[in-house]
Amino acid sequence: MAHNPLAPEWLSSPADANTLASGLWPASAHRSDAGAITIGGISAPDLAARFGTPLYVVDETDARTRAAELRAAFDTEFARIGTTVKVYYAAKAFLSTEIARWMVDAGLNIDVCSGGELAVALAAGVAPARIGFHGNNKSRTEIDEATRVGVGTIILDSPIEIVRVAEAARRHNTVQNVRLRVNSGVHAHTHEFLATSHEDQKFGVVFEDAPSLVAAIRAESSLNFLGLHCHIGSQIFGVDGFAESASRLLSLHAELLTGGPVPELNLGGGFGIAYTSVDDPSPVADLAAGLADIVAAECARRGIPLPVIAIEPGRVIIGPAGVTLYEVGTIKPVRVGDNTRLYVSVDGGMSDNARPALYGAEFSVRLADRVTDAPPALVRLAGKHCESGDIVVDADYLPGDVAPGDLVMVPATGAYCWSLASNYNYLGRPAVVAVADGEARVIVRGETIEDLLARDTGVSTSSTSGVGSTSEVSTSSTSGVSTTSTNDDVKETTR
Ligand code: LLP
Repeated sequence: MAHNPLAPEWLSSPADANTLASGLWPASAHRSDAGAITIGGISAPDLAARFGTPLYVVDETDARTRAAELRAAFDTEFARIGTTVKVYYAAKAFLSTEIARWMVDAGLNIDVCSGGELAVALAAGVAPARIGFHGNNKSRTEIDEATRVGVGTIILDSPIEIVRVAEAARRHNTVQNVRLRVNSGVHAHTHEFLATSHEDQKFGVVFEDAPSLVAAIRAESSLNFLGLHCHIGSQIFGVDGFAESASRLLSLHAELLTGGPVPELNLGGGFGIAYTSVDDPSPVADLAAGLADIVAAECARRGIPLPVIAIEPGRVIIGPAGVTLYEVGTIKPVRVGDNTRLYVSVDGGMSDNARPALYGAEFSVRLADRVTDAPPALVRLAGKHCESGDIVVDADYLPGDVAPGDLVMVPATGAYCWSLASNYNYLGRPAVVAVADGEARVIVRGETIEDLLARDTGVSTSSTSGVGSTSEVSTSSTSGVSTTSTNDDVKETTR
C-alpha cells in the first residue's frame, strides 16, 4: 500500500491492524478467541465493565518478572567480572505501596526523590536502609526526615547539601551514607528535556569540583562517603552513552581513591523501552553485559579495585507492564489536502498521559474489544481536553471501522504516565488496576469529583452564602465526571 503522506516516515500501514506488536505489550497480553485484548487473564471489556475507563492496567506478573530478570541479569554479569550490583527501582516512574512491595520482593531497593515518595515507600513497609534519596532541592524537612528514619543513602546534589545533611545526621546522632552526584558531561541521545547530564543543567556538581567536595564530605564525621553517582538521561537505547559515562566516572573514582575509600559507584538509570513497533532498545541483558565489560576494563586499566556498582532504572521495569484503556467517544475524519486523518477521541488524554504534550513522545494504539478485517485507517488518538495539543497517539493505524463505544488500548504507559497525571479540566485521575492470573484488583482508586471539590475551600462558602446554588454544586458532584473519569458509575467501585 502507498505510504500515507500524513503518516510519519517510519509508520507504514500494517497488513493487519489488529496485531499486537512484539516487545510493546505486557507479557500476558494476547487476543482472546473473541478477539478482545486480554491481560493477566482479564479481557478489556471485562476491565471496562468492572472499573470504567480511562483505566491504568498493570500486568503484575510482568512487572515482578521484569524487575527480577533485570536484577538477575546484572547480578550475573557483575559476578562474572568479580563484583556485585545494587539495583534500585526509580520510584518516580510509577509508585504505589503495592508496586514498591513488588520491587522489594524481586530483591530491588527503592530510589525516591521527594518526601512524598519517601512516605509512600515507608508506608509500603520498605526498610529505610533499602532507600536511596535523590533531589536537587531536598527541603530541610525532607533531609531531616530521611536522616531520622535512616535511609540507606542520600545522594548529595550540591555543596549546600553537604552541610545540611551533615547537620541533620548529627542531630539524629547517626552517620549518614552519602553519594555525590556529578555531571559527567555525557549527552544522552534522547529528547532534550530528558537528558540530565548536560553541563549547563540543574543536576549534580561540576566534574572538576568533585575532588574538593568529596574532601569536604570526608571531613564531616556524620557523613560516610560511598562513592559517585551519575545519571545521563532517560529512554536511552544503546550502551555507548553509559559506557562513556562509566569510563569518565571511573577516572574520577580512581583519583578519589588516593584520599580514602570509595566502595561504590552508581551509574543511574535511563534504559529505554519500545513505544512503537519500530523502536529497538537494547535488551537488558546486553546492557548489563556491556556495562560490566566497561567497568572491568576501566578498573583493570587503572589498576583499581572493582567497586560495588549501583543502578537505578525505572521505565524499563514498569513501562512495558502497563497499558491504558480508553473508550472511544467521537470520531471525525479530517481532510488534509487529498488525504484523510481520522481523529479518534477518547475519554482521557493529557491528564492521564502528559508525555506526548511534554516531550513529543510517541505511542501506539490497538482496538481492544474486537478484531475486524476492515482496512487500516491512519488515526490520531486525541484526548477530551480543551487543548489542541491534547494528543495521546500522534499517528497509528486502526481498523477503519473503529466506532464510538469501541475500547482502545495504548501500550507501554506504565512509566511516567500515572506519575505525571494531572486534574486538568477537573478530570479525576484514573484508577490503577493490577491484573494477574485472572484476578483484577484496584491498587490505587480513581479520583472522583468529590475528591477534587473537597480541596476547594470555596465550596462550603458558596453553598451557604447563596453564591450559586447548592443544587448546582450537588448536581455537578454526582454527574458528568463520574461517567468520564472517576469510575464511580460502575458496579465494582474503585473507591
Ligand atoms: N535516576 C535518576 C537520578 C533519575 O533522574 C531518573 C529519571 C532515573 C534514575 C530513572 O530513569 P529511567 O530508568 O526511568 O529512565 N518524565 C520523563 C522521564 C524523566 C526521567 C527523570 N529521571 C518521561 O516521561 O520520559
